[in-house]
Amino acid sequence: MWTSTRFTERIGCRYPIVQGPMGGGASTPELVAAVSNAGGFGSLGAYHLEPAEILRAAAEIRRLTDKPFALNLWIPRAQEDPGSQVDATRALARLQPYRDELGLPPLAEPPAPGVQDFERQFEAVLQARPAVFSFIFGLLPAPMAAAARKQGILLIGTATTVEEAEALEASGVDLVCASGFEAGGHRGSFLRPAEQSLTGTLPLIPQVVSAVRVPVLAAGGIADGRGVAAALVLGADAAQIGTAFLMCRESGANTLHRAALADRERARRTALTRAFTGRLARVLANRFTEEMAQPPSELLPYPLQNAITREIRLAAARAGRDDLLGLYGGQGAPLASPRPAGDLVAALAAETGAVLERFCG
Ligand SMILES: Cc1cc2nc3c(=O)[nH]c(=O)nc-3n(C[C@H](O)[C@H](O)[C@H](O)COP(=O)(O)O)c2cc1C
Repeated sequence: MWTSTRFTERIGCRYPIVQGPMGGGASTPELVAAVSNAGGFGSLGAYHLEPAEILRAAAEIRRLTDKPFALNLWIPRAQEDPGSQVDATRALARLQPYRDELGLPPLAEPPAPGVQDFERQFEAVLQARPAVFSFIFGLLPAPMAAAARKQGILLIGTATTVEEAEALEASGVDLVCASGFEAGGHRGSFLRPAEQSLTGTLPLIPQVVSAVRVPVLAAGGIADGRGVAAALVLGADAAQIGTAFLMCRESGANTLHRAALADRERARRTALTRAFTGRLARVLANRFTEEMAQPPSELLPYPLQNAITREIRLAAARAGRDDLLGLYGGQGAPLASPRPAGDLVAALAAETGAVLERFCG
């Protein structure tokens, strides 16, 4: 049976279908629980949450489901890849026309970015004790990995290259999520700059599957049963899907974001940009991504670029202006449509079974 993989056996869920963690509030407890209740595996992106909020979110998920789920954090990076770094004055000047349009006063200097207290967040994860702790942007320090293991928490690390998958396996993770170039959201690259870590899902998955022994989750551009079936045929033990779940009614995406993703013609055009946060991310192309791609490219590294674009994004959302918003989404968006998350899991499972039946009998 296609549903019986090393992933479903280890996790104890019905389908090898993972709802990818989506930080910043996009993966809500309702979304995570709906996916896990439907037989998939839900994940909550928690990097933006305070430790107490992580505990509250985990309790809320448990109120809504007794099925396993994952909590996910971003590993803090000591040295941020600067991309095309310039001084703050020039980066602020580059953004001023957008601030003028939105009626925002000039900024004299970048606002202080919020500080992520990873250690306390991780303590909260240990306390919440999810079935899985998944992470992105690096390796989990060995003492933390040991502490998670002691609690019986499985570890999933995210790779964008074969080398990253090998490094994750050597660090002792239980599973590797291999994320192809098509994926929505940030590139989680940590060994090389993200621009040099852009292998597509189709060639990445079989290479990672051959390079590591641990089960592999395939992510990037998968949005229907044909994609899930392809991931399994390539040797993955599960498919991880973000964008298609972002379109579900339980997600935290705002109205403008949902409308853009559901507009098939619009969703056909995505862009990789550092302009919103300073880290490379795949979003739907819009005026901001197009104009910021034109020289001069004056961006600050994460988290400063995130801090200097924040007011613009918030004001644009208030004004109903999606031309200046970061509309995170992957290349598979036109394959999906808005629906309840449980229905999406059921449809993915039915389609995957039908496709595999047709080809494999
Ligand atoms: C809005 C958004 C936020 C995301 N946030 C995270 C995150 O916080 N942590 C993480 O490991 N992956 C994150 N991802 C990646 C997803 O978990 C998933 O791997 C990816 O979306 C799969 O590609 P797809 O969008 O083509 O389905 C995010 C993706 C999106 C679209």
